[in-house]
Amino acid sequence: MIRINMKGLAAAALAACIVTSGLSVHPAFAQGGEQTVNWTREDVSKIELNQDNTLPYIDVSKLEKMAPGYHIWDTWPLLDRDGNIASYKGWKVIFSLSAPNTVLPGKVHDIATIRYFYSKNGKDWTLGGELFPAGTALGQRQWAGSAMLDGDQIHAFYTATGREGQAQLTYEQRIASAAGRIVADSTGVRFENWGQHRVILEPDGKYYQTKEQAQQGEGGYAFRDPMWFKDPKTGKEYLLFEGNSGGAVGERSFKPEYAGSGEYLRQHPVPAGAVHANGNIGIAEVVNGDLTNFKLLPPLMEANYVNEELERPHVVVKDKKYYLFTDSHINKYAEGLHGPEGMYGFVSDTLIGGYKPLNGSGLVLANPPENPYQAYSWLVTPELNVVGFAHFGDLDNLTIGDVGNQSPEFQFSHFGGTLAPTVKISIKGDRTQIEKVLPQGWIK
Ligand code: FRU
Repeated sequence: MIRINMKGLAAAALAACIVTSGLSVHPAFAQGGEQTVNWTREDVSKIELNQDNTLPYIDVSKLEKMAPGYHIWDTWPLLDRDGNIASYKGWKVIFSLSAPNTVLPGKVHDIATIRYFYSKNGKDWTLGGELFPAGTALGQRQWAGSAMLDGDQIHAFYTATGREGQAQLTYEQRIASAAGRIVADSTGVRFENWGQHRVILEPDGKYYQTKEQAQQGEGGYAFRDPMWFKDPKTGKEYLLFEGNSGGAVGERSFKPEYAGSGEYLRQHPVPAGAVHANGNIGIAEVVNGDLTNFKLLPPLMEANYVNEELERPHVVVKDKKYYLFTDSHINKYAEGLHGPEGMYGFVSDTLIGGYKPLNGSGLVLANPPENPYQAYSWLVTPELNVVGFAHFGDLDNLTIGDVGNQSPEFQFSHFGGTLAPTVKISIKGDRTQIEKVLPQGWIK
């Protein structure tokens, strides 16, 4: 195994080292852990937009605003303990990150609050209000999560971002939970009797990078987006989440399997700057059925030298196969690689280990090239309905990074801040296809 401090090495010299090194053992194997799979540079090099994966154009400015008075973005349905969409006294519930719609789109993440909606038909949603009583949730603000209903007990998992009580905005991310009670009658749904909010997972620095380790490099930092999952084959219960591979940049050595085959690596040297990409998909197991006690496991997948953010990971089981989905951005690919704002997927016969990219590259859904930022943060329901939110439409040649420099009027008028039309996909083995576009907010 080679260990290279990437900083200060010329790209060409580095590439030479990489090409001549032998295969190495993943630390998870070496320590008798579970199998972590790489999403490789070679996989990503196969990305191609085609009619099976490219979403039709949406005119974001014409979409109905789901929540008058609020921007909403990342959204998740209330699940039952087995991971199906829950129905309580005939009501379905969804949760969304939200912020008052007077806030500039680029600032919404700084004041995100979880609000919920309920619906009888799974399409027309009524805003219920804030999920938690004001001031009770952990973090300065709350980022994405999931929610599971067991009888009339709701278990809400979320990202506590920033440290409550601190004066300035901070970016620390911890995974937290709280349990409460759902109450419903013919007029709607509410939540009450919330117990204590607890931090249930924090990065360990070994498999999952801490904020302090991340700050030693230029890459991003993520420890967020807990998603409930119960393995139907074993009955074991888990949270999946978005992380980054552990260690500071100087401690993370290149391994040839990050690139792909030896042949690919020989022909495509890895640029030195790619070291900053270390996205991973984390998993933690419920210990003894106690939903406040989780054990961190080695990541399901890593995208070292490939991609910096594997967001909102989740698994759907179909035909006894495990389909692992995640979202990523154009600007989160490692140096030398390119991919769209899209949803990516992988398939395996087991929950842990063995994942292969769907459609060869992993790409399942992409925004159309003429409207590359129109939607994001897609989540696949067990019925294979993909729910995402409308992001920025018709930016012409601007990138997402340029949007914040435009006038407030421009920013507001090009921002969706509402659910996008749902998209139905089909899956056959390791291939997926867009089947049809459903109405906005369609869950089931
Ligand atoms: C994806 C995302 C999530 C995060 C949220 C914060 O859209 O980056 O990973 O929880 O947005 O607003």
